Amino acid sequence: MHSKAHTVFICHDCGARAAKWSGQCPECGAWNSLAQTTPSKPSTRPFGHYAGECGVKPLAEVARTDEMRFATGSAELDRVLGGGLVQGSVVLLGGDPGIGKSTLLLETMARLSGNAPALYVTGEESLRQVALRAKRLGVRGEGLQVLAETALEAILATAEEQRPAVMVVDSVQTLHGAALGSAPGSVAQVRDCAAHLVRFAKQTGTAVFLVGHVTKEGQLAGPRVLEHMVDTVLYFESDSASRFRLLRAVKNRFGAVNELGVFAMTDSGLREVKNPSAIFLTRHGVPVAGSGIMVTREGTRPLLVEVQALVAGSPLTHPRRVTVGLDGTRLAMLLAVLHRHGGICTSTDDVFVNVVGGVRVSETASDLPVLMAVLSSLRDRPIAQDWVMFGELGLAGEIRPVPNGEERLQEAAKHGFKRALVPANNKPRRGRSPSGLGIVAVERLDQAVNTLF
Ligand code: TYD
Ligand code: MG
Repeated sequence: MHSKAHTVFICHDCGARAAKWSGQCPECGAWNSLAQTTPSKPSTRPFGHYAGECGVKPLAEVARTDEMRFATGSAELDRVLGGGLVQGSVVLLGGDPGIGKSTLLLETMARLSGNAPALYVTGEESLRQVALRAKRLGVRGEGLQVLAETALEAILATAEEQRPAVMVVDSVQTLHGAALGSAPGSVAQVRDCAAHLVRFAKQTGTAVFLVGHVTKEGQLAGPRVLEHMVDTVLYFESDSASRFRLLRAVKNRFGAVNELGVFAMTDSGLREVKNPSAIFLTRHGVPVAGSGIMVTREGTRPLLVEVQALVAGSPLTHPRRVTVGLDGTRLAMLLAVLHRHGGICTSTDDVFVNVVGGVRVSETASDLPVLMAVLSSLRDRPIAQDWVMFGELGLAGEIRPVPNGEERLQEAAKHGFKRALVPANNKPRRGRSPSGLGIVAVERLDQAVNTLF
């Protein structure tokens, strides 16, 4: 009985704890992901205490200088970080294996090492492999220190001796600490190792990048369990088989979330994509039904993307509503509004909606474009290719304004669009609409339908 109290079951996917084993994780619903672990004993200070600020202080006396940032030399990465890398911050870079995490960080570190001491710790590759990759990337990085090591104690000792301004640990899943109470390779171990690195960063002012693989299977902990410990969480994603890579901030204590950086993987490493709207827009030779262009905002930047819809008679009693890159429940809601306030019923049709290019849109400005694409498919009437749209739809059938309308319109004008369907309250004041762009402002759903169809 007694020993039972000393074991817990930890989910490999989400890190949730359970007292009893079960086939499915009660938190995240993953199957067969619970593993028995001995909880880590509060460690009796196995690692050094790093010189730095500690002790209690009145808030007013804490120096309130702005956080010190340094540019990483990549405009895309800097923007996603919220305007550069903050001293002493910990950034978790997650992503599927092979997506380009090591490539991105090696390039970045090589660039940074010209101005500041930089340390790249790899637990996955040999130093020779790192050197070969650097050669292939065409980066020199003469000042960059590299270390192939997986023992946490050794990494911290080296870091303390070198005192780098920036350090990369690639990847956090390969780390192990002998003095930690948790089992090697367990979620608890990964978390404990990360906790020590976070403490090191806070106490010394070294900015730390932790690489974490997103793994569904396998015995390694996913980076999700680390999200709450770090300052910034970036995910590197890609549409399958596409050479474009999206770097997304999902948490940032020093900047906006949902900020998006776009890169292209080339033979010689990652290249920044300065004009992402251009790659997400597919210009069809002839207008096709079921396609509409929307102006969304990712973080602080407007982005033009294509929404596609397919509406087809369904053989099912419960027709399907499938979305890719959008919220599925919202589609159901929009279709209900279309029925109630537009008099257009899709209850016997399957409705599929897809955002082209692997972009995920989470803002409500997609409501109007989604419904217009659905209607276009339903009626088999293409929307002319010079239209762009954005706007939120209310349950009463009203078209509601969205933030930063003018900026969105400017982006549309920049890409040569001629007509914009926007909420009435987003209509720019006289003289402020971008030249060459005709703006049609609508207040209600039926006005929008009448304008396009
Ligand atoms: P990598 O950075 O090793 O991925 P991660 O660290 O996220 O696991 O990227 C590996 C992939 O990138 C690999 O499939 C080859 C490709 N790649 C290029 O296309 N060009 C390059 O210059 C480099 C270095 C890698
Ligand atoms: Mg790697």
